[in-house]
Amino acid sequence: MADYETLIVERRDRVTLVTLNRPQALNALNAQVLDDLLSVMAALDADPSQGCAVITGSPKAFAAGADIKEMQAQGFATMYGHDFFAGWDRFTRTRKPVIAAVAGYALGGGCELAMMCDFILAADTAKFGQPEIKLAVSPGMGGSQRLARAVGKAKAMEMCLTGRMIDADEAERAGLVSRVIPAADLVEEAVKTAAAIAAMAPLAVLANKEMVNMAFETGLAAGVQFERRLFHGLFGTADQSEGMAAFVEKRAGAWTGK
Ligand code: CAA
Repeated sequence: MADYETLIVERRDRVTLVTLNRPQALNALNAQVLDDLLSVMAALDADPSQGCAVITGSPKAFAAGADIKEMQAQGFATMYGHDFFAGWDRFTRTRKPVIAAVAGYALGGGCELAMMCDFILAADTAKFGQPEIKLAVSPGMGGSQRLARAVGKAKAMEMCLTGRMIDADEAERAGLVSRVIPAADLVEEAVKTAAAIAAMAPLAVLANKEMVNMAFETGLAAGVQFERRLFHGLFGTADQSEGMAAFVEKRAGAWTGK
């Protein structure tokens, strides 16, 4: 497995466990982190032995934001000219599921990275916020849009305008995270959840991810039709025959990914 400058990447059977590893900067996201993450995601999608990824940080910080020191000296011409942060759109095109396992701070770009993942499992120590306004800027990696869709206008607006952080319980009540887990168990629980996903029929996993994501891109009727077509498409797979036969015969399915 390749070495990465800013990540620790381990394979836990069918799960790729990615640990952000810039402790000196509370895992602030710089260009190298993006490059490293993009190459891990490309490897995940290309490797049939891997079914799901978990991205986590340290107990203190999932990630404390985009790297302020990298942005500090930039001006409009370079930011706009190079379409700074556009590379993160590629991260969101990862086809296999990616779970964010968040302990400690997930601020600014850190909160935005967590929201780019397919769902967030939060340690009871997690804190989410979009404090960019305090730097006289704003979210830039999709946070205003994904946060508003996740928690609704009122809370998203308050968080963006004041920079107020919310804790794990508030994040769960607001629908930002799927579950809160004791910090000591976070990574193991996330890997267990990822392993359960990675044990499903691979094409069904891709289809389920794609159709839930479509809910954020389109109206209801078009989204329901998209779902139905993908559902129909799964009836062209060997794994559908196997899955339904296995249920009837009261045994576990054996998937081929075909
Ligand atoms: N970028 C670069 N370096 C960062 C950083 C960031 N986002 N966050 C923390 N660091 C660095 C600090 O500068 C410090 O480095 P030095 O030891 O060299 O001084 C080190 O990490 C430890 O941080 P602190 O000493 O500040 O730790 P703390 O425990 O006192 O505070 C914190 C923790 C409240 C998270 C605080 O670090 C903080 O407020 N960080 C910035 C949060 C922020 O504003 N994030 C938004 C960034 S902009 C953005 O993300 C744009 C976007 O939309 C994508």
